[in-house]
Amino acid sequence: MSQCQFDYRNRVVFVAGGTSGINLGIATGFAKAGATLAVMSRSQQKVDTAVDVLKGQGSHAIGFAADVRDVDSLKEVFEQVFQELGPIDVLVSGAAGNFPAAANEMSANAFKVVIDIDLLGTFNVLRYSYKYLRKPGASIINISAPQAFVPMEMQSHVCAAKAGVDMITRTTAMEWGPEGIRVNSLVPGPIEGTEGMKRLTPPGSTGRQIVINSVPMKRQGTVEDMANAAMFVASDAASYINGAVIPVDGGWGLGGAGQLGQGLADMVKSEK
Ligand code: NAP
Ligand code: COA
Repeated sequence: MSQCQFDYRNRVVFVAGGTSGINLGIATGFAKAGATLAVMSRSQQKVDTAVDVLKGQGSHAIGFAADVRDVDSLKEVFEQVFQELGPIDVLVSGAAGNFPAAANEMSANAFKVVIDIDLLGTFNVLRYSYKYLRKPGASIINISAPQAFVPMEMQSHVCAAKAGVDMITRTTAMEWGPEGIRVNSLVPGPIEGTEGMKRLTPPGSTGRQIVINSVPMKRQGTVEDMANAAMFVASDAASYINGAVIPVDGGWGLGGAGQLGQGLADMVKSEK
């Protein structure tokens, strides 16, 4: 999928969880469009590699090793981003954790860890970046998942967390809209070459083929598909889109719980 034309010169883009997969793909799209980037995730090594990738696109890029569960670190990160780069124009919140686990088998802490990273982590990123967002004009993009609206076996923790993420999108869109801040969710479908896909459907598995067959476009998405959608939603062309939960999934979600939920359940069980 080719890169669409957007101009993000003189814009500051912050991507939480922006050091691999979909989120790094989104950061790379913005870097190619001329933006200044700040990325953060837990691993210093991943941060360093991602910053090199973004600089390789000609972007001014900085990175931070921090955990979205650690409020004090987040406060320091956002203060430093503001001091070095100024107000944030585009904030992407995409840090997440996932593993397939049945509700009657996982520990309370296993459920909690996903809630803490995906749901509370999203709140933390929005809450503690708020002071530093450009007002008016900032665009926030939360990275959701189909699990937010389709119940899936082995995914009770992720379903609960991502449904909550979309409600944070809607409530902050209402609260912060008057200040000229838009908040939207992007819902990726199955995106090729990512950790999320690897965890639920190992490469070459029957499960992966079930997923691809259930996508009307008959292919997995790419990180470039996600970057193009993010750059559109953050652009002036989308200036009246606020509080929306937008699938970027080739129509995967159209089959609803019957197709999607059962397909995933069969797939996860066949891989166990
Ligand atoms: P990924 O490469 O594992 O991306 C997750 C990112 O979040 C990594 O950069 C990771 O880096 C960071 N991260 C994890 N825990 C963190 C924490 N506690 N604090 C800060 N950063 C943290 O996975 P992906 O598959 O590309 O998924 C990216 C997003 O898309 C997620 O929100 C996921 O739910 C969503 N999604 C993915 C798919 C898919 O097909 N892959 C489908 C639907 C939705 P560190 O390990 O360095 O922290
Ligand atoms: N099945 C069941 N429980 C699991 C599990 C699995 N596959 N993996 C971890 N857990 C449990 C642990 O046993 C622990 O529970 P316990 O204390 O009762 O034993 C709990 O989850 C926390 O695990 P821990 O490894 O301490 O968490 P962490 O904060 O270091 O890592 C994860 C978070 C577990 C989400 C880890 O997989 C991760 O870092 N993921 C990020 C990358 C990712 O998932 N990408 C895909 C995004 S869609």
